[in-house]
Amino acid sequence: MDSQSMTTNSSDKWTKSQVLWMQYWTPALLSFRISRIPDFRFRPGLYARLGLREREDEELVWRPFSMASSPDADYLEFIATLVPDGRFSVLLEKLKIGDSMCIDKAAFGFLTLDQLAPGRDLWLLATGTGIGPFVSILRDGAVWQCFENIILVHSARLAAELVYRDEIAVLAGKHSPGQTGARLHYLPIVTREPGATSLTGHIPQLLEDGRLEAATGCPITVETSRFMACGNPSMTQEVRAWLNALGFQTTRRGVHGQMAFEKYW
Ligand SMILES: Cc1cc2nc3c(=O)[nH]c(=O)nc-3n(C[C@H](O)[C@H](O)[C@H](O)COP(=O)(O)OP(=O)(O)OC[C@H]3O[C@@H](n4cnc5c(N)ncnc54)[C@H](O)[C@@H]3O)c2cc1C
Ligand SMILES: NC(=O)c1ccc[n+]([C@@H]2O[C@H](COP(=O)([O-])OP(=O)(O)OC[C@H]3O[C@@H](n4cnc5c(N)ncnc54)[C@H](OP(=O)(O)O)[C@@H]3O)[C@@H](O)[C@H]2O)c1
Repeated sequence: MDSQSMTTNSSDKWTKSQVLWMQYWTPALLSFRISRIPDFRFRPGLYARLGLREREDEELVWRPFSMASSPDADYLEFIATLVPDGRFSVLLEKLKIGDSMCIDKAAFGFLTLDQLAPGRDLWLLATGTGIGPFVSILRDGAVWQCFENIILVHSARLAAELVYRDEIAVLAGKHSPGQTGARLHYLPIVTREPGATSLTGHIPQLLEDGRLEAATGCPITVETSRFMACGNPSMTQEVRAWLNALGFQTTRRGVHGQMAFEKYW
């Protein structure tokens, strides 16, 4: 049994929810909402394991997914990519509104604002579905009072995979210069459609060559910048190594750091 799968009928750790809503961004990329039990609590950035099975007499296949919804919503929203032949993906692909899905009763993880020391600029770096926890953070009210600038960088292969783009544009308009609270800078990056976005290339290279700083006017310093990165593990590893060399630390033994990571595989 792999670490993300389990065979149990225990219901003290998980509960059954119902699929309420689904939206396909592309044939292999969807957002969906499930019903939420009232005592399921989470801070934006956390994840929970979702469980699916073909038939009631089969074992559940469990995979972690980050909540993309606001912690105040009465449903839970997720964004998922359908990996060809992935054990969970083949089940998710068949899901319809009204079907049941199992979910942990608790939320987990460390990609939360309270993992970071106070700072001026919050950098949110995402590849693919790694944008999910950042959508949750932006949908919550708290973040807008904690920083002067919030910089959301989202890298996707194709423009159609720049999910939540319209909602983010509305937020960027609302949180623009002259408004109270943080200013939102949205930097979409498309890597496999030349010309689709003004920025292209991998996030670590764009950090190294100064193009992200130049695009935002926000200099990167240990004193003022805070980083969260989520998604492709090579992106999170490369960003972590680059920030480490500049003196950035993760939170350790109760000492708040300046960066936090979540890798999806
Ligand atoms: C803490 C955590 C949170 C996660 N949150 C999300 C989430 O919000 N949305 C989401 O889609 N996935 C998320 N994942 C990944 C998810 O749990 C599954 O791995 C994914 O749904 C594929 O499951 P699978 O069984 O079909 O394939 P798996 O056997 O789990 O994965 C097969 C391969 O597919 C690729 N892959 C897996 N997940 C992704 C992905 N998200 N994007 C691109 N390639 C991928 C990798 O190459 C992986 O080796 C998260 C993983 C972790 C550890
Ligand atoms: N995206 C699709 O069209 C699609 C469709 C069906 C299934 N899938 C499956 O989904 C998985 C991939 O999904 P995905 O496209 O969301 O994730 P991904 O491969 O992680 O790509 C997301 C973004 O991250 C970039 N990236 C890759 N490595 C990076 C690194 N080291 N540093 C910084 N950025 C990096 C990619 O650029 P590059 O373009 O340079 O890689 C892309 O812009 C695969 O299993 C695939 O088979 C994808």
